[in-house]
Amino acid sequence: MVIAVYPGSFDPATYGHLDVIQRASVSFDKVIVGVLHNSAKSPLFSVEERVNILEKATKDIPNVIIKPFNGLSVNFARENHAQVIIRGLRAVTDFEYELQMAQTNRVLAPDVDTVFLTTSLEYAYLSSTIMKEVAYFGGDLTKFAPAEIIEAVKSKIANRVQE
Ligand code: PNS
Repeated sequence: MVIAVYPGSFDPATYGHLDVIQRASVSFDKVIVGVLHNSAKSPLFSVEERVNILEKATKDIPNVIIKPFNGLSVNFARENHAQVIIRGLRAVTDFEYELQMAQTNRVLAPDVDTVFLTTSLEYAYLSSTIMKEVAYFGGDLTKFAPAEIIEAVKSKIANRVQE
């Protein structure tokens, strides 16, 4: 049984993330999506909200589960008996950081391999940051994420603006 973890911030998940999860679920027996409790960044959504959003968005894929995690991705992989860390690669701009992270992870945990899935072309430009930027200025989000996620982003931003 080959288990893969897919760590990330997912603040919030986009069609790009969901595409990687769906494709990984075909290649691996079990995919555990790890939502990082990143206190250094100030995320739009709490870790519980991000987990909840991903659970709803992946409910029809039986071999995918969502978990929050703290600390190193390699430790999250080991705790979950995963042999593989999955990362999506959009463009050459991602490559330098991703290569460095994969190599660091390999030094820390030689028993865990990183597998890159190249993002589908239609989502190559997309990121959570871009989606939030468009949302802040009231742009159309329909190409970026499913309706439920769009609603969550809009209501979160509306509440923030009122604060
Ligand atoms: O969605 P993101 O923000 O690109 O994901 C980055 C993430 C969470 C995969 C990365 O920051 C990470 O693995 N953080 C946990 C700490 C760690 O293991 N760092 C890698 C060693 S350099």
